[in-house]
Amino acid sequence: CRIHIMAGRVPEGADRAALAAGMEAPFVDNLRHAAGVLAQEPMVGLLEPINTRITDPRYFLSTPQQAAAMLEQVGQPNLKLQLDIFHLQIMDGNLTRNLETYFPLIGHIQIAQVPARQEPDTPGEVNFPYLFQQLESLGYTGYVGCEYTPRGATAEGLGWLREYWQSRGLEPNGSIL
Ligand SMILES: *[C@@H]1O[C@H](CO)[C@@H](O)[C@H](O)[C@H]1NC(C)=O
Ligand SMILES: *[C@@H]1O[C@H](CO)[C@@H](O)[C@H](O)[C@H]1NC(C)=O
Repeated sequence: CRIHIMAGRVPEGADRAALAAGMEAPFVDNLRHAAGVLAQEPMVGLLEPINTRITDPRYFLSTPQQAAAMLEQVGQPNLKLQLDIFHLQIMDGNLTRNLETYFPLIGHIQIAQVPARQEPDTPGEVNFPYLFQQLESLGYTGYVGCEYTPRGATAEGLGWLREYWQSRGLEPNGSIL
């Protein structure tokens, strides 16, 4: 079981840079506490950087660099990074190098095309077939969450997954596909 632990927002009108240290310390304390609670079960807590340019301008945790620094301070193996490619592309790009660098911290991946936040095979900035290959080469075996707004019906929008399986010689056999 994986739980997204959210970071909260910088107060309205506040100067993010001035508040950063003051907000980080209690969050790290809370994460330490959460790690202890989660450790009583086979549960993993996830930190997700969310972009502050479009989606959530006051969200405190916005880059994998920031998440990695906090995960390092807590130092518990049951806290991981939830890397949403949509947010990462908007905040920092540099997807190949960031994936490689933060791969050991990743506990969950989410995807959506940029900027429309739709299926990965819709027009946009991110080359998902390439990124899926990168994830395979890095040895990723976890889930990939589809955090997007489908253009039409959900099953219809999963054409990208059918194509991905076919490219790997796999037979889709689930009831939706
Ligand atoms: C790209 O990401 C890597 C790893 O996070 C970092 O070392 C490098 O400085 C980044 N490059 C640029 C141009 O930001
Ligand atoms: C789908 O394929 C997997 C692996 O071959 C198999 O274990 C599973 O029973 C299949 N599911 C259905 C619904 O046919």
